[in-house]
Amino acid sequence: MTLCIFLLSNLTVSLGLRWITIVERSMALLSIIFRFLLSGRLIVDFPGGLFFGNSFSPKMVQVQTELGGITKHNLKMVKRLNQVIFPVSYNDQFYNDLLKAGDMAKLAFYNDLAVGAVCCRPETPAAVTAPPFSEGKRLYIMTLGCLAPYRRHKIGTLMLEHVLALCQKEGYTAVTLHVQVNNEAALDFYKKSGFEVISKSDQYYKRIEPADAFLLEKKIVPTKNSDSSTNKAAA
Ligand SMILES: CC(C)(COP(=O)(O)OP(=O)(O)OC[C@H]1O[C@@H](n2cnc3c(N)ncnc32)[C@H](O)[C@@H]1OP(=O)(O)O)[C@@H](O)C(=O)NCCC(=O)NCCS
Repeated sequence: MTLCIFLLSNLTVSLGLRWITIVERSMALLSIIFRFLLSGRLIVDFPGGLFFGNSFSPKMVQVQTELGGITKHNLKMVKRLNQVIFPVSYNDQFYNDLLKAGDMAKLAFYNDLAVGAVCCRPETPAAVTAPPFSEGKRLYIMTLGCLAPYRRHKIGTLMLEHVLALCQKEGYTAVTLHVQVNNEAALDFYKKSGFEVISKSDQYYKRIEPADAFLLEKKIVPTKNSDSSTNKAAA
């Protein structure tokens, strides 16, 4: 009798737990489907928990980082992000130009949240302030930044890789940018990706201290997949 009661209670607990697990997993699956329908993006939290049980790896939160286009609907978001990220402010013309920038300007998302932006333009001769410079078509990074709490999650790398891929695709021979002399994080970030300091521009910034900037450059080595026609044109 005691054995029967023991077995019966164990069976009830086990069925109860199994039922809770099924409900839990169904809810998680529904949440993924809902978020996919709402955002058009697949966001999976705890994939281990959903498909293999929480004992698999409860800490395995899958984060989605991606880039999206800049439109008149999110232009204010780009402006707000830049105001928070950079000590320099940019005028309305800068933001209006972004609407025509195509792949040269992108928003960066951490899951569904806009957390950074990159804005480039073809380099004009006037922007060139000191030798030595590589020949050919050059791209200039005006801004590339990410909100502080989202740094060191490779969002900067995602934006930079996009810029470098664009350079390859469109036959740019070099990419350049200015970095404030005391911006160690940015200098480390760009040096890690193969940029070199090629000169120092004294009093480059008008309203921030220190006013000096380093000019950084990375030469683009064309790969097999580069657009050969644009590369020939640039050579
Ligand atoms: C520079 C910046 C864009 C880097 O973005 P991020 O998303 O944090 O960079 P990532 O996570 O892709 O870092 C890639 C690598 O760069 C290096 N790096 C990035 N930030 C660094 C820091 N603060 N200190 C040292 N190295 C750093 C590291 O080697 C890092 O790899 P690791 O994390 O595996 O060690 C970010 O710090 C930022 O937005 N700064 C403010 C805006 C700015 O100054 N932009 C540059 C001028 S346009």
